[in-house]
Amino acid sequence: MSCSLRPVGRAHRARLEQLTRDTGLFREEEVGTAVELLDESLAGDEEYRFVGAFDGDRLMGYACWGPTPGTVSTSDLYWIVVDRARQGAGVGSQLLKEVECLLRAHGRRLVVVETSSRADYEPTRKFYEARGYTRAARVPGYYAPGDDLVIYTKDLTRGDLARTAP
Ligand SMILES: CC(C)(COP(=O)(O)OP(=O)(O)OC[C@H]1O[C@@H](n2cnc3c(N)ncnc32)[C@H](O)[C@@H]1OP(=O)(O)O)[C@@H](O)C(=O)NCCC(=O)NCCS
Repeated sequence: MSCSLRPVGRAHRARLEQLTRDTGLFREEEVGTAVELLDESLAGDEEYRFVGAFDGDRLMGYACWGPTPGTVSTSDLYWIVVDRARQGAGVGSQLLKEVECLLRAHGRRLVVVETSSRADYEPTRKFYEARGYTRAARVPGYYAPGDDLVIYTKDLTRGDLARTAP
């Protein structure tokens, strides 16, 4: 069942923190960063945009993105998270599609996503790859010894031939 998409408000701050922590993938420091970015966005900082996926009033997932400083129309997808119990049901695809639509509508050219080489991120890497993201670079040992940075990009100026929502 698809969720409705709308901005994430202050009332959903605690739930966003819980969702992020409950993925089991992020360090506590990273969970804190997600909440900080929401706070900055709610305070009017246009460098960080959030969209939430809601089931009624319950936040089931969110994405956060913004312009990449020092680039011509490149944007970073900073976060995309779906409630563990709802993963694999199309909510992440819905969020990603919405972000890409908004970026295209604002003339953004390239999306960059940073993720990890760890085995527990394999489903995440598959998610991006099946949605038209290309592995552009890998930085060995970036996050920790044996935990590389994997950078994906997607060219938004090309037709979207990749599968989107299931
Ligand atoms: C990655 C994530 C946002 C995808 O959202 P989702 O709602 O689970 O994804 P969808 O249902 O739209 O798409 C499912 C596809 O994503 C992949 N996938 C990633 N994580 C998955 C999971 N836990 N369960 C099932 N599929 C998953 C599969 O390749 C699946 O492929 P399929 O469509 O061929 O079955 C979500 O699983 C998540 O929050 N993961 C943990 C946090 C994370 O890794 N965020 C990205 C940080 S860089």
